[in-house]
Amino acid sequence: MCGIVGYIGKRDAAPLLLEGLQRLEYRGYDSAGVAVSGKSGALKTVKAKGRVRDLESRLPKRFAGTTGIAHTRWATHGAPSDDNAHPHMDPDGVVAVVHNGIIDNAPELRAKLTADGVEFASETDTEVLTHLIARSEADSLEARVREALARVEGTYGIAVLHASFPDRIVVARNGSPVVLGIGENEMFVASDVAALVRHTRQVVTLDDGEMATLKAGEYRTYTTEGSRTSGSPTTIEGEAADPGAWDIGGHEHYMHKEICEQPDAVDRVLRGRIDDRFATVHLGGLGIDAREARGVRRVKILGCGSAFHAGQIGAQLIEELARIPADAEPASEFRYRNPVVDPDTLYIAVSQSGETYDTLAAVQELKRKGACVLGVVNVVGSAIAREADGGMYVHAGPEVCVVSTKCFTNTAVAFALLALHLGRVRDLSVADGKRIIAGLRRLPAQIAEILSAEEEIKKLAHSYADARSMMFVGRVRGYPVAREASLKLKEVSYVHAEAYPASELKHGPLALIEPDVPSVAIVPDDELLEKNRATLEEIKARHGRILAVAHAPQEAADDTIVVPHNEPELDPVLLGIPLQLLAYHAALALGRDIDKPRNLAKSVTVE
Ligand code: F6R
Repeated sequence: MCGIVGYIGKRDAAPLLLEGLQRLEYRGYDSAGVAVSGKSGALKTVKAKGRVRDLESRLPKRFAGTTGIAHTRWATHGAPSDDNAHPHMDPDGVVAVVHNGIIDNAPELRAKLTADGVEFASETDTEVLTHLIARSEADSLEARVREALARVEGTYGIAVLHASFPDRIVVARNGSPVVLGIGENEMFVASDVAALVRHTRQVVTLDDGEMATLKAGEYRTYTTEGSRTSGSPTTIEGEAADPGAWDIGGHEHYMHKEICEQPDAVDRVLRGRIDDRFATVHLGGLGIDAREARGVRRVKILGCGSAFHAGQIGAQLIEELARIPADAEPASEFRYRNPVVDPDTLYIAVSQSGETYDTLAAVQELKRKGACVLGVVNVVGSAIAREADGGMYVHAGPEVCVVSTKCFTNTAVAFALLALHLGRVRDLSVADGKRIIAGLRRLPAQIAEILSAEEEIKKLAHSYADARSMMFVGRVRGYPVAREASLKLKEVSYVHAEAYPASELKHGPLALIEPDVPSVAIVPDDELLEKNRATLEEIKARHGRILAVAHAPQEAADDTIVVPHNEPELDPVLLGIPLQLLAYHAALALGRDIDKPRNLAKSVTVE
């Protein structure tokens, strides 16, 4: 949420910063800005409401400077506007600050500064920091930033330029990611490696409470109290290290690219993990041995949005294959309800970005109470991955579209692996282990088969896109699929959608069914098929239009998307795929901004 990028070196900073902002635009896209320091050290800044391209069109021809910081914003305090865009400067134009996160005590600090005669140019919490730094009389920029940070409460990732200290950028982190990119006689900083991989693979990820000073030929890291930290660089590895993986390829939208990548992505999450001999899987990073795995009495899965839905699929898989009671809960709820933490429960935090603040806060609360927490995470080295006691990466590769598709699918498959592992150290038979492994291996080709029906799904999407509202229903294994499909449709097409357990329909929501409120029903060919068919009849009797996603055409439905059979436990992975395409094509037909839906941003790093 919000993107920061900074550069110090010998090259012209502005083009590098703009390119970095474009890479980070998925983190926030309501306004953007850039500041550079010219030869004399004087700071110049340009800001614009709207997208990075709006900022670009405003940049004067002469905007030279070899040091600069830039920002793409997702509004928290103050509506999107030129004034509220970052960088924020003091009235003398001496300090420029870009900030991700929220300063909780900004109102009190603003009141004090106003009483001291400071005039604010924006409604943002960030501007408070700018004035605090500008008013500090400490000897160094580092000390000035440190002094200001000591007065703020809240979360931040910041980068600061100061006209009196033109040879450096000072950055700090507390709760919002800051990554340094180490180049040859040049240094970068960003809130996300997406902006760095084209320039360097050597990175230093700051910890909370850490700061850094970047100069063209050197950097150093230290705590907010001033003691040196090691700051040793690591190499970006895996899918994220390939600059091409961040490109849109030949696709019109990242969402389409990421949906189409799923056969390969699922292949990656399976690769190197299957053990045919013992009909199980190896998950090296879990950090719990067979005895400990046998001692787990409950599993509690925590995540937000699509990650929560993938967790719901995970909970069912763990119950079915390992026979351990399991459930999923939104991390955003869990962390606020003073949860009872049980030593025999295995807690699992799920996140694509590994940065979602609510999920991270839930992990921290659990760890404080002594729980064992695993992470099921996509972004390698992210905060949740580092905070967890162990876990597994889902290897979906970079997900750039704000709405999650391939990571949701890979997370569900990762949970199938975990469930198989837990099952095989408990009572799951070799035969069942082999059956699930065979099913897992079929998934990539089956996903490709579903994707090959895109034209047909597109036609359906066009015929359902003008719905006033849509109802998504599923039962047991189908319910998380319905929830995820409903979320996908509403966030990308803005068509209102509700998801209900099919069994709950008659307890109230059936009142909504009428011809212009179609239903999407998840109807797998499992032991609940007849129950699901009865639901279709109930909808039909109320003149509701029905699109079924099923293993065979459904008589009561107006349309059916047929998906291939896998093993019943793994069917949820496949049943959701056509509904990603449905959401995509409905959004396209409605002319939506698919990769950057209104009001949203990827990586929700604020509470
Ligand atoms: C939905 C979506 C969001 C995220 C949620 C959690 O398409 O993208 O609901 O799933 O904000 O994000 P992560 O997985 O990064 O923790």
